[in-house]
Amino acid sequence: MDQRNFYIETYGCQMNVSDTEIVNSILMEQGMQPVQEPEQSDIIFINTCSIRENAETRVWNRLKEFRSLKKEKDGNLTVGVLGCMAERIRETIMEKEEFVDLVVGPDAYRDLPKLLAEVNDGRKAVNVLLSQEETYADVKPVRTNDNGVNAFVTIMRGCDNMCAFCVVPFTRGRERSRPMESILDELGRLSDQGYKEVTLLGQNVNSYLDKDNDFTTLMYEASQIDPEMRIRFSSPHPKDFPEELLHVIAEQPNLCNYIHIPAQSGNNDVLERMRRPYTREQYFDLVDRMREIIPGVTLSTDIITGFCGETEEEHEDTMSLMAKVRYDLAYMFAYSERGRTLAQRKYEDDVPEEVKKRRLSEIIEQQMNIQEELNQQEIGRRHLVLIEGTSKRSDEQLCGRTDTNKMVVFDRHDLKKGDYAEVRITDCTSATLMGDVIGKSSIAGFSKKAEAVPA
Ligand code: 5AD
Ligand code: SF4
Repeated sequence: MDQRNFYIETYGCQMNVSDTEIVNSILMEQGMQPVQEPEQSDIIFINTCSIRENAETRVWNRLKEFRSLKKEKDGNLTVGVLGCMAERIRETIMEKEEFVDLVVGPDAYRDLPKLLAEVNDGRKAVNVLLSQEETYADVKPVRTNDNGVNAFVTIMRGCDNMCAFCVVPFTRGRERSRPMESILDELGRLSDQGYKEVTLLGQNVNSYLDKDNDFTTLMYEASQIDPEMRIRFSSPHPKDFPEELLHVIAEQPNLCNYIHIPAQSGNNDVLERMRRPYTREQYFDLVDRMREIIPGVTLSTDIITGFCGETEEEHEDTMSLMAKVRYDLAYMFAYSERGRTLAQRKYEDDVPEEVKKRRLSEIIEQQMNIQEELNQQEIGRRHLVLIEGTSKRSDEQLCGRTDTNKMVVFDRHDLKKGDYAEVRITDCTSATLMGDVIGKSSIAGFSKKAEAVPA
């Protein structure tokens, strides 16, 4: 038994949040206890992200603070680097940051107890091997940092797409899917524990394939576990949206009517350089089919500005794609060159930083205007909101999301976290809706009513 305390700080995507919950479980099996403050812990882990330069810079800065803390504690502190950066720059970390004791990649967390024992023996410990099979299917995640309402469940890991800009295939390895039974079991346990919303996670979530069970089958089966538990998914790729999947989402009331479809660019030449396997026109077709099959579906996207060789006209194509689709939400980034990627090997990162930034502000500004207009149209509509907690501004107000993933703020009444409320939208900003509570409700109750009263 190892009875030490540990603290994990998590950067990057939801996948990393989910991985931290797996690490919690593996360490707690050994008798170790999670704590919420680095100062109180015997071991500090930093679960890292490599997606863009600034994600890594934040981690380097944080590591400096942990170095000081270790000095203050006269060296009585173990520091470990987990996740995507561990994979990418293990040598640099070990050479430059001599106070780091262990470096562990995303497929090697089962090895943590053994690696910690090596550190106890006075050695540095590294395992950054990537695996073709590891899905941690039998590890029961320990969720120490969530709100008891929304949970993440990893269903597949890795990525085989090799988009030219992306470091993920190098940090997380090949695609592999977790057995469907183990996913459905976990959803059952989450429902028993009172969770009301689950986000199925994967770097390429809709490429899920376990024997004959594809993502459509999994989504259908997931929807049957608990009709009052919402299901979302992140992050999909536009190449894997069969119509059948869209129909399943439309038909099952607890599968949320919100889809993230990363476009990355609106220009065909850029898409080709990025190795994205669709054209602008095919992308528009997909959006049309989604809106036809799932009435009222909201859409979000990821966009990169200033990719290698991007001209002003190509940038305008991204602007016009976004103006045409009118996304409810967009995650927008300036291109950041990553080592080992195809783009880094084949193309020059030739769009000047100021130009990338200016293009980024242009798309952000346009997007904020579109979001505000779309949110204005919500005024007067009724939504079923799952309450996630107290609003940031006031204890008297609660907040939660619509099925379509829009954040709504409203007065508390006698409602609480985890309840479903029917809310009428009264006001908005580009980011949030405000509403009046009509009453407590449920997925079943709300969808019956919607059938009776056409919108
Ligand atoms: N530079 C900027 N953005 C990137 N993304 C991935 N790699 C890079 C990069 N090198 C963005 C993509 C992806 C999202 C998760 O991060 O838009 O969809
Ligand atoms: Fe960051 Fe990508 Fe790794 Fe997630 S998978 S932590 S976004 S590099």
